[in-house]
Order: sequence, then C-alpha cells, then structure tokens
Amino acid sequence: MFSSRLSFADTTNALSKAKEKRLAAGQPVLDLSDSNPANAGFAWSATDLGPLLRRDGIQRQDPTPFGLSSARTAVSDYYSSRGARVPVDRLCLTASTSEAYSWVFKLLCNPGDEILVPEPAYPLLEVIAALEGVTLRPYQLVQLAGEWVIDSATLSVNRQTRAILAINPSNPTGAFVGRRDRDVLRGFALKNGLAIVCDEVFLDYPAEGVASPGTWAGEANVLTFVLSGLSKVALAPQLKLGWIVVAGPAIATLEACRRLEHIADAFLSVNTPAQLALPDLLRRAEPLRALVRTRLAQGEATLRTWTTASATGCTVLPRPAGWTAVLALPPGVHEDRFVMNALSEGVWLHPGYFFGMPPSLPSVVLSLLTPPDGLSAGLQGLERALKRT
Ligand SMILES: Cc1ncc(COP(=O)(O)O)c(C=O)c1O
Repeated sequence: MFSSRLSFADTTNALSKAKEKRLAAGQPVLDLSDSNPANAGFAWSATDLGPLLRRDGIQRQDPTPFGLSSARTAVSDYYSSRGARVPVDRLCLTASTSEAYSWVFKLLCNPGDEILVPEPAYPLLEVIAALEGVTLRPYQLVQLAGEWVIDSATLSVNRQTRAILAINPSNPTGAFVGRRDRDVLRGFALKNGLAIVCDEVFLDYPAEGVASPGTWAGEANVLTFVLSGLSKVALAPQLKLGWIVVAGPAIATLEACRRLEHIADAFLSVNTPAQLALPDLLRRAEPLRALVRTRLAQGEATLRTWTTASATGCTVLPRPAGWTAVLALPPGVHEDRFVMNALSEGVWLHPGYFFGMPPSLPSVVLSLLTPPDGLSAGLQGLERALKRT
C-alpha cells in the first residue's frame, strides 16, 4: 500500500532503540548531539521577536512564488556583505534548507536520477533524496595533512547523474571547500554537464583565526544552487525560512528560475510573518552568532583539554568551522560499543559512521553548542565509558 520511498523508515538502529528504552524507563540521558540553538540557550527573546512577527503579515498572504521582494532584498543584502552579487530575481525563499534541497532535487532529477554527494556528510541528505526518489552516489573526502580534500579518483558519473553537491563548510567535519576543491568541482561539473548544489548553512561560523574561502553565491560559470536558511544564519529554526540562490550563466539561471517558480507556486510554503521579519532578523543576527561562535570555541577548548588530561587516547580533529566536533577514538575502540557504553553512563552522542566517517577512523560526533556544565558532565561519562570499552 505504501511507497518504497519510505523503506528507510522500516529499520530503527540498535543504538536509537537502546536510547528510547532508557528514556521510557525514566532514566536520564544527557544529549551531547543536540544542536538546537534554543536548547543550548541561544534563542531570541520574546521581547525582541514578538514585535517583529506581529506585523500585518499575520492577517494577509501575498502569494508570490519566490517570496516577498522585501525579504529577498534582505537575503541579497546578506550576500552583498559577503562579497557576492545576488539579483533578487535569482532568489527563491523556502520553508527551510531541507525544503530547499527537496525543491532543487525535484527541479533537477527524474525518479532514479543521481546526485553526487560528499562522504562524510550530514545524514539527512539520504532521507531527503529517498523522499524525492533520487539516488545518492558518494564521492570521498579524505584527510590530507589535517585537511579534508576531495579524492578525485572517487568522482564518477553515469547517464543519470544530474548534480554534484558540496557542503561549505561541512557537517560534521567543519571543513570548508578549499580553492583547489572548488576548481575540481567546477571543472567536473562543466565536463559532465552537472549542476552544483552548495549547502552553506554554517558559512557564518568559522573558528577563530580561520579565513573562510567565502560563499559560492557569486558563481558565474556553472549553474549553481546555494542553499541556506534562518535555522543556522539567525539561530531561528522555529521561524521556518530558508532560501535557494540560483547562480551561474544567465540563460541557465533564467531557465532554472522559470521552472523553480512552478515548484514554489505549487507549495507557497513560506509563512508571511517570517518573511516580513526577515530584514530585521538578518540585520540583528550577528551578535547572537558571535555568542554562538564563543560557545563553540569554549566547547572545543574544553574538549581538547579533556583529551589531554584524561589520557584516554582520544583526539579532536581540526575544526575549521561549524557546530560539531569529531572526536577520534583510540585505535581498536568500536564505535557502536563505545556509544552503547556511553549511553549506559547516561550520555548520548552519534557514532561517526552515522555521517559516513571512514571505518579507518573510529569516531564520535558531538555538538559544541552543548552548555558548559552539560559538556563537562558528558565528558566524565565518556571517560567512564571508554574505560569499559
Ligand atoms: C549541513 C546542514 N544542512 C542543512 C540542514 C538543515 O537546515 P534547516 O533546519 O534549515 O532545514 C542542517 C541541519 O542541521 C545541516 O546540518
């Protein structure tokens, strides 16, 4: 009776089951994977947000498929201040970055078509692709002198490959797509007639002292879709607003926008109050982002101090950007066993293989947004778990 698009939903992994069981038994679980900013104490206050949302938008809808021009102008300004010229008519608002992915997949792919995706990467991509009937073909990112770079030998296409995806910077590794890899991706896309899809939700979170190579929103040579949204840019996932920048050669972007407009028109999914508030939200988000960057830096420092002091043999991988840290486990430690032991110590975090981290590098991934007390308590639990693993 049901579509096979949801076949991934038939299996729950043993780790998630164990976590559910623990919660159902009323035992505490300290979640080191939580990356919801509000849970970490980074929410807009009702006093600040209330007046922005209580405008006339609550009572009216302006059904413009790409979104209100005032809101798109604000997004265009956001890119101007990051060095890229994005015309307002090349910008489509969506309800989230996840929805932006699904609309771009609909735009580019027939069922069964393929998109090249980096590995390791953010696991939600598999779900979105499955829901769109799209197959993901991984290409590998490998560590070279502490940096994640594309292993060009793993880039391949078939007749159904439509696009190549990049995450700049990546979740979970925090690696930006460097200049060399940008050229590799551009050249590969041009040679094989592919579009580029670039997820930049974490662009504004470089670690201290790291120079960001910048946005792809000004790309001129290859049809490129840059995705982002308020959940990370303005720490406001609850407002449900994301966007797609359509960049590249004039004729290709015009044709892409013409088609994208039909998708956007079919859903009209962006709420009007958030669109009206967008200019203020984007203008005022930087101080909140700065607080988040400080939390991330403190979390990373705590983690590095802990790896040295605890002498557990764990190491923290370099984090050029982003909200997560990858903790490499001592050689021989099995990811699942360790995560299960951590859970029995009341601490939850994700094994590296959830993100396609290579088996040669057993690891776990944790959110650096975690409040300091929680992180310290969590690390004590991990230390006990490591002794038992
Ligand atoms: C790399 C990356 N892209 C996209 C998203 C989804 O963003 P949104 O909440 O706007 O759908 C996430 C969520 O964590 C993410 O990590």
